[in-house]
Amino acid sequence: MTAKLLDPVGYRNAMGPWWMAAFTPATDSPELDGNLTRQALSSPVNRNIIRCVNRLDHSHRAKVVAEYVETTEQKSLLEELGCDVFQGWLTARPCRPIRSRPILTAAKDIAMQPSTDQRRHSPAAERNGPFILTELQRLLPATGTLLEIASGTGQHAAFCAAGLPGWQWQPSDYEAAALTCIAAWCAGNGRVLPPIELDVLTPDWFDMTRQFDAIYCANMIHISPWACTLALLRGAARHLTPQGVLITYGPYLVDGLDTAPSNLAFDADLRTRNPAWGLRRLSDIAAQATAVGLHLRERSNLPANNLLLVWERT
Ligand SMILES: C[S@@+](CC[C@H](N)C(=O)[O-])C[C@H]1O[C@@H](n2cnc3c(N)ncnc32)[C@H](O)[C@@H]1O
Repeated sequence: MTAKLLDPVGYRNAMGPWWMAAFTPATDSPELDGNLTRQALSSPVNRNIIRCVNRLDHSHRAKVVAEYVETTEQKSLLEELGCDVFQGWLTARPCRPIRSRPILTAAKDIAMQPSTDQRRHSPAAERNGPFILTELQRLLPATGTLLEIASGTGQHAAFCAAGLPGWQWQPSDYEAAALTCIAAWCAGNGRVLPPIELDVLTPDWFDMTRQFDAIYCANMIHISPWACTLALLRGAARHLTPQGVLITYGPYLVDGLDTAPSNLAFDADLRTRNPAWGLRRLSDIAAQATAVGLHLRERSNLPANNLLLVWERT
């Protein structure tokens, strides 16, 4: 089956030893085992077998490879018996060990080197990035400064900042280990500042003078304890400019709307991973937002039952 698929695109296959290959008509280059070829000169039985095999294989246009060919005399005989290709010491002598050592050492060094690419990859972030960017381009003014909370791999920062040329993007995450990955994804874009370590639960993220035109947070609310959502709202109220917006993205439970089965399953899975995690009810978040002086201005439905929410000062 595989041979049939590969043949039209130009692949040829080889198979050894002969007792398997001879009975596999799809084989392009059956290989005669050394047990047959080595004693071809001395054994009439071997010569007969080789002749028969070659006839059989030529009947389906295969080219027979003779292995273990060590002398010109042996090669001439195998040629006479119908073999087409010759392998072995006569045609491919081993290199001297001293020559191969630097090559092997270099190969080992390369294999042992850790990858220099520090970018971890989130397929979900790659999938949803374009939809999020389209929304950010629609919602945000031409210029501004944005703080991203819980940047994760940094793919959203890299992708969205590239699509918002008038914006300066400050990525962050509470896991120090994530910062290298974020920096690697954003390398080369001067409008993305070096990522900072920021735990939303710390009481004061920055001093009060640090204000942002937008604060963006994707997929943290449901993958962190409820206290993080409250801290996110408090921090946004503290560090948004008067016209600034908090933009959150992810799956939510919405009163009066059936929750998609995939989101229910996701919620159950999150809660088994950590009982403090889980999809949040939008009305609960809205109530907490009111308490800190924010309200929900806009809600967009994005693919895979995710919402993008825009919060602003009341
Ligand atoms: C599912 S990932 C989302 C990453 C990224 N925003 C995305 O959508 O691909 C959740 C992120 O929340 C971050 N996080 C969890 N608790 C946090 C906290 N207390 N403060 C800041 N970030 C937090 C994690 O480190 C992780 O990067």
